[in-house]
Amino acid sequence: MIRNQTREFIYHNTSNHRRSAMAAAFLPATSLRLNPFSTLRFLSFFPISYSLQRPSRRPLFQPSPANARRRCFCTATSQPPGSGDGTKANNSHEHRFGSKVGDFRKKLRIAEVKGGGDEGLGRVGQSLSVTGWVRTLRSQSSVTFIEINDGSCLSNLQCVMNPEAEGYHQVEAGSVLTGASVSVQGTVVASQGSKQKVELKVDKIILVGKCDASYPIQKKRVSREFLRTKAHLRPRTNTFGAVARVRNTLAYATHKFFQESGFVWVASPIITASDCEGAGEQFCVTTLIPSSHETTNTSIDAIPKTKGGLVDWSQDFFGKPAFLTVSGQLNGETYATALSDIYTFGPTFRAENSNTSRHLAEFWMIEPELAFADLDDDMACATAYLQYVVKYVLDNCKEDMEFFDTWIEKGIIHRLSDVVEKEFLQLSYTDAIELLLKANKKFEFPVKWGLDLQSEHERYITEEAFGGRPVIIRDYPKEIKAFYMRGNDDGKTVAAMDMLVPRVGELIGGSQREERLEVLEARLDELKLDKESYWWYLDLRRYGSVPHAGFGLGFERLVQFTTGIDNIRDVIPFPRSPGSADF
Ligand code: 4AD
Ligand code: MG
Repeated sequence: MIRNQTREFIYHNTSNHRRSAMAAAFLPATSLRLNPFSTLRFLSFFPISYSLQRPSRRPLFQPSPANARRRCFCTATSQPPGSGDGTKANNSHEHRFGSKVGDFRKKLRIAEVKGGGDEGLGRVGQSLSVTGWVRTLRSQSSVTFIEINDGSCLSNLQCVMNPEAEGYHQVEAGSVLTGASVSVQGTVVASQGSKQKVELKVDKIILVGKCDASYPIQKKRVSREFLRTKAHLRPRTNTFGAVARVRNTLAYATHKFFQESGFVWVASPIITASDCEGAGEQFCVTTLIPSSHETTNTSIDAIPKTKGGLVDWSQDFFGKPAFLTVSGQLNGETYATALSDIYTFGPTFRAENSNTSRHLAEFWMIEPELAFADLDDDMACATAYLQYVVKYVLDNCKEDMEFFDTWIEKGIIHRLSDVVEKEFLQLSYTDAIELLLKANKKFEFPVKWGLDLQSEHERYITEEAFGGRPVIIRDYPKEIKAFYMRGNDDGKTVAAMDMLVPRVGELIGGSQREERLEVLEARLDELKLDKESYWWYLDLRRYGSVPHAGFGLGFERLVQFTTGIDNIRDVIPFPRSPGSADF
């Protein structure tokens, strides 16, 4: 018999919303066989006993009188949340007026269970509970093996279960399928198998969320093109899970590098009225076209016009045309000329119709700006930054990097170790053109002083001419670069630099900025750009101007470079490219 109350959560010491929500999430998806007082009780997330051999990490629950009462026990019976008459009565304590918010506690993750030098052997004998999604399930005579993954690492936790385990009937009934979410409780034991050092001997399993048999992420390998159509589920695969973790580590290492180097993180605006790169590749942000649910039947006549028949921007939200930013640099410069060294790290947008494996319409950029600095300082910063983040990933994402080395790009660990250890090289644009002209290779695009380098040229330089080393090309012709770059004394080139890396080509674009007011004004005139609209940018040159320099690094290209993933659409969770803005 099931107790007639629908559900009941018992919290020692405190009741609060978050825990209720969490506990609700643990309600079994199918009815459980419970007898009168057999409320299903489990210690969620936390190790029940904790080895004291790991003093560096504070145990979440050290059995001591002070915190013994604060353990988070959930007691659940089998009915769905919120149903039945008993709910209110039983949950009334959760919403008690003015009750305290509980402590946040870190969840025990599989990476912690199996991580570390001993791969979990130090935990043998511990009783613990983990949550995750079923990757595979196979039964052998009376033993069932369930591989669970919680996204914290590539490895699954092998859970071994026999019919005596509580909740086994759900396995027996075929309710626990690949993709289902479960909570398992058991004891860590040394594994009999050779694939892992430890496994979990299951005492209890709770099916938290059933998985429909139509689940598209089954064990068999599927193409990354197919998975792009399942972008909401692809993080549950080995490849996309590993990419997400490495991407996260790169972001963390980016902040760590700049913070440790004394830079201040600045939020540059996403909506802007200026076109930093002057390439006219901006997405317009407007309310002149009615909001999204009315877009399908909007007549062109609904857009306000001037008497002359032009779009009347004065009636737009900002009173003038506004766009999604292509770069945070100009705003970054304002803070660099106050705080000395800053960096931005945020999304940028380009409406360039490039359907390539290196271009996105929405991508993230890291843009440091250094005051009292020239192009050499800029190149040194870019080099130190790249070496730092790559080393950080090699040191901290070993399992994922080995996965990439085996399945995505053979030798990537060696290639990246070289990046960390070997010096980067620099050469001028003029020398690069000479090198390409002398190359014994037919290029699709012409090579000529004054023309921009194409991806094939960039890759030849870094991959073939310099044997896979990152190379910085500097001092480009001013005609092919943006207005803000500092003019060199030769009158023909600007103090620009592009860092080229194997497989990706241009990873970084940067420059020393023109700090001389008259020279910058003359350049704006030369390019027929509206000086008025750059008034605040010119003010930086009017009030205490300093030589300064910076660069922009395309974060997704960095993730490509670090994981070996070919297509940029596979290193951002939800790619946006021409004709595609799904999910
Ligand atoms: O070379 P870019 O256009 O430079 C700038 O935007 C400067 N304002 C940066 C600065 O000096 N602060 O872009 C910088 C980098 C490129 O090297 C490339 O890695 C990346 O941004 N990038 C793209 N990544 C993905 N998709 C695109 N469409 C990209 N366009 C540029
Ligand atoms: Mg560039």
